[in-house]
Amino acid sequence: MTKTFLCAALLAACTSASSTGITSANLSCDSSLTYANFGSAFIQTNCLSCHATKEQPTLSTQAQILANSSRILEQAVYTTAMPQDTNISNAERQMLGDWLQCGAP
Ligand code: HEC
Repeated sequence: MTKTFLCAALLAACTSASSTGITSANLSCDSSLTYANFGSAFIQTNCLSCHATKEQPTLSTQAQILANSSRILEQAVYTTAMPQDTNISNAERQMLGDWLQCGAP
């Protein structure tokens, strides 16, 4: 009984620890991800409520995303600082990172 409880508590600890983001060593370019099939919708859904006009950097176009690639990695992949109002899964952060790693094609 105590054992089961401990495992559950430890698992919870592990889960929240992994929400600190993805380390750069775990990123690898995934060229199946493109702006058209992934990046545009992802940024639209998770970032543009703030980063279209209200907040800098503006992330409305592929060129703007590419120009801010390292800042996006820092805020939304390596750390969970962004998106500011909600959380996204580490699987989503991984996809974002793998796409940016390819140069956001
Ligand atoms: C609810 C609003 C909101 C959403 C959604 C949001 N941001 Fe932000 N973002 C902010 C605010 C406010 C700042 C400036 C203050 C700060 O850094 O906390 C900011 C700052 C940033 C910066 C600049 C930080 C720096 O100093 O380099 C980047 C890069 C960024 N956001 C990326 C993103 C990305 C990528 C997403 C989507 C995954 C996103 N943000 C979603 C509100 C938001």
